Amino acid sequence: MGKRLPMSIPYGWFFIAYADDLPRGKVQTVHYFNKEMVLFRTDNGEIGLLDAYCLHMGAHLGHGGKVEGESIRCPFHDWKFNTKGQCTEVPYSKTMPPSLKTKKKCQKTYHAVEKNKVIWAWYHPEDKEPFFDVMEHEEISHPDWVELEKFEWRFASNPQEIAENGVDVAHFQYVHGMTSVPEGKTTYDGVIRKSMAEGTRDIKQPDGSVKTKNSRVETIQNGAGQKYTRISGLTDTFLMVLATPITDEDVELRFAFTYKKCNPESLEYKAAKGTIKTLIGKTGVEGDIPIWENKIFHKYPLLCDGDGPIMRFRKYFGQFYCQQNK
Ligand code: FES
Ligand SMILES: [Fe+2]
Repeated sequence: MGKRLPMSIPYGWFFIAYADDLPRGKVQTVHYFNKEMVLFRTDNGEIGLLDAYCLHMGAHLGHGGKVEGESIRCPFHDWKFNTKGQCTEVPYSKTMPPSLKTKKKCQKTYHAVEKNKVIWAWYHPEDKEPFFDVMEHEEISHPDWVELEKFEWRFASNPQEIAENGVDVAHFQYVHGMTSVPEGKTTYDGVIRKSMAEGTRDIKQPDGSVKTKNSRVETIQNGAGQKYTRISGLTDTFLMVLATPITDEDVELRFAFTYKKCNPESLEYKAAKGTIKTLIGKTGVEGDIPIWENKIFHKYPLLCDGDGPIMRFRKYFGQFYCQQNK
């Protein structure tokens, strides 16, 4: 039997850390995309993401490396590297190797940006430069919206299987106990997929009366690693779905929510908390995880009417791989 999941690691911008967890001067190891990397923040607040193994004699910069000014010092022989991977000092050497002096030889770097209170790394299996950007969300850091509420899981799966779940409309009833989840209107535009479902919901008021409210769920995927959902109804809730491959068979999934600030006694507050509970519990991602961890991937599933646009979704997601297994 072949691999349970035949896919390789897709390309895109992926979560590697929350920005708040990396204060100035901090060094941390990052093990994603089957790579060992080191992430650090300089005294001026810049971030650096380098290959973890020092080009000199291979020490791991994430184990004992220290930030000094705008650079990181290797724990083995004290060589100093800036965020561009250039070696800026060999403290004991009177004649630095010419390739270091001319900056020909550098520590390998990865593209990393800070947006939406998240540090994102660009991963591409063929080391191509980024050709699209991380989208920015006005809700994050907005004074009217609460601080991020964060959840995380690690399990054996991959970003494609997680994303495909959203278009698998038939499973919502059987895994999540929901009567119907319309897929809504979907558009595909290059690396971006947008879907929007609109409807009405009856909401029971404290006095027993029922108010009908418009509800709207908008989901946007931008490359293999950025996905977010805006849920509007009684209140507005915003969710970042952050799926980062550790290897091609293991993934970390994070949900980061924010919602409009409101009184904790209000119906709006209860609605926002209710939405979060629904999306993280058995009615949400925790219902899916046992299926994802154990299923295999059928390249040609036996689909029937009512199954949702699985193959259209796969055609879209297939662009994020460089080899077969699309
Ligand atoms: S191994 Fe890093 S300075 Fe020698
Ligand atoms: Fe699901």
